[in-house]
Amino acid sequence: MDIREKFSEVFAGECAGVFFAPGRVNLIGEHTDYNGGHVFPCALDLGIYCAARLRDDRRIRLYSGNFAEQGVIDASLDELGGDGRWADYVKAVLNAFISYGYPLERGMELAYWGNLPDGAGLSSSAAMEVLTGTVLKTLFGFSVTPQVIALIGQFAENRFIGLNCGIMDQFASAMGCADHAILLDTNTLRYAYAPIPSEKAAVVIVNSGVKHSLASSAYNDRRRECETALAQLSAVVKTPSLCALTPGEFDAHCAAIGDPIALKRARHAVYENARTIDAVAALRGGDLAAFGELMKRSHISLRDDYEVSCEELDLLVDAALSIDGVYGARMTGGGFGGCTVNLVKREAVDGFVTAMTAFYDKTFHRPAPIYVVGIGDGARAL
Ligand code: GLA
Repeated sequence: MDIREKFSEVFAGECAGVFFAPGRVNLIGEHTDYNGGHVFPCALDLGIYCAARLRDDRRIRLYSGNFAEQGVIDASLDELGGDGRWADYVKAVLNAFISYGYPLERGMELAYWGNLPDGAGLSSSAAMEVLTGTVLKTLFGFSVTPQVIALIGQFAENRFIGLNCGIMDQFASAMGCADHAILLDTNTLRYAYAPIPSEKAAVVIVNSGVKHSLASSAYNDRRRECETALAQLSAVVKTPSLCALTPGEFDAHCAAIGDPIALKRARHAVYENARTIDAVAALRGGDLAAFGELMKRSHISLRDDYEVSCEELDLLVDAALSIDGVYGARMTGGGFGGCTVNLVKREAVDGFVTAMTAFYDKTFHRPAPIYVVGIGDGARAL
């Protein structure tokens, strides 16, 4: 869809600018971002576009090419309550900018369209939030950095959408860098880019097509279980977060966690953080096999200790690992459905796609949504 043309068709006249924000895939470091740990996501070359223009009054008019049947959704700067539709993500960011003290004194017209598969766990919500923040920055001339746009997006999601997510998705969408993944310390927000050697390996995403309706309440439960573990640990060891502990320190003190579920959740977070640091070191040293091995362990821990995988994701990971030339495979994102991420030797990609397509068809009786993705830049005006 040409979003500039769509804007003119829906709102008449020219838009003032067109913007893009990417989705993300996380290579390793899952459910560590709200435990003070490290994550290693990259921005995709798939994402969401927005054509935008200010108005002279206080009306907000919103259109999405992905929900064309809903037509134009009307709101006002004085009435930005949600109603369960897609536009809630936009309203949440408008509310969040106002809460952060950025005055929105004029209404606007915004037309969106994205090519991220919906509900696949590739962060279409974070892309919407970061995109809307990037639009507001430009339309109103706010001096706000991409990092702060990411934080405002997270605040919008926590406060107005009700998902207590960490910072990973919004940060990746705002700060992505082509052909690089981002090692982010979510405790300090210090980050470093690490090149993905695309001549040697490809990132391939396979969509399970499963959407778990309880995903957001289960996500918030996991977060609470980690808080319980931290509170119980704090009786015996002083630590600001679970991921500030090394695996050795954790093992020495974990008997203090009386609740067996909280113990498993915490063990995942602590070991996953260590795996993430080790994986990035392996990648920097050119050891893709070691990186892949850590991806496999990440999946097992997410499946058995964190319990956020599902049967379909487990089947897809096992199938991938039986195909020649696969360094590693794991579920990616929040879990309970969504996608697997696979690191595949460049020359084995065609074979991987053929074998995976056949497996998917035989197992799920539907065409396989497989994406050999490019790693792109973060949100920007086009
Ligand atoms: C979702 C959240 C992120 C992160 C991941 C799990 O994508 O939005 O903040 O917690 O789950 O790693």
